[in-house]
Formats: sequence, structure tokens, C-alpha cells
Amino acid sequence: MHIHRYEKLWLSIGLVILAFFIATLSIAALSEGFVPPSDDQSIDPTKVAQTPPFDHPGLRKVGDHAYEAYYVAHIFAFDPATITVPVGSRVTFYVTSTDVEHGFSIPATAVNMMVTPGWVNSLSHTFKEAGTFLLVCNEYCGAGHQTMAAKVVVQ
Ligand code: CUA
Repeated sequence: MHIHRYEKLWLSIGLVILAFFIATLSIAALSEGFVPPSDDQSIDPTKVAQTPPFDHPGLRKVGDHAYEAYYVAHIFAFDPATITVPVGSRVTFYVTSTDVEHGFSIPATAVNMMVTPGWVNSLSHTFKEAGTFLLVCNEYCGAGHQTMAAKVVVQ
């Protein structure tokens, strides 16, 4: 089979770029410890309302400018719908679902998690500027998916 010289060159460039991306990912994962946010604790999805701390979803102050926020995601809302924290707060979000797969994303921040029934997912973020941040579901979860949102108020 004859492959044209330019096609070989083009293929080679593609392979070099692919090798570069794989090397970059491997170095980041192995030496820097970068990992995607993952489900780290299991929970019975039928007993979320009886399981602490998700029996009382909401915000807890755990230190100076440190908070934990426990969220229950369900079709088509987040509980709590709004949390308010002072500027400079580091908030660790814990979230679980009682029904189907949801998303948990605060655009313009690194907070972006999948919310899987049966698992608790968590991620932290420091809010350095005042404002109202929209928290959205970014996994299609049903007919009301586009209405599924909450707010993080930083003041
Ligand atoms: Cu929940 Cu989309």
C-alpha cells in the first residue's frame, strides 16, 4: 500500500502530539498526584434522609473561614437551594443523589463533580471574591434538568 509523503508527515505529527498528551497526563498523575474528583464514600441512596450528615443538608462552619456544605441532589433541585459564606471562605462541598445521576458544577471555578446515587462526592473551593455563584446540574437527568440549580452567595 502506498502512503503519500504528506500523509505520512501528517500522521507523524498526530502521533507526536498524542504521545505528548499521554506523557503530560502521566507526569501530572504520577508526579503531581493530580486525580479527577471521584466518589469517595458509599451511602444507601434509599436512606439518605436518615443518614447523617445528609439528614440535615446545609452549611457547617468547621473553622476560621472553613466550611462544609452538605448537599442532596434529586430531581430537579439541590437541597440546600442557597448557602451564604463570607469572602475568603474555603468550602468543602459534599454531595450525594437520592435518585439518578446528576452534575454539580459552579461555572468559572474548578468545582465540577458527578453525583452518583449510592456515593458521596466532595471537592473544596476558596471563594476569594464576593458575588452570587450559580450552582448547576450539568448531567442530563430528566425533563426538568434545565431548572436544576442552586446559589452560593459570597459576601
Ligand atoms: Cu440533575 Cu440534570
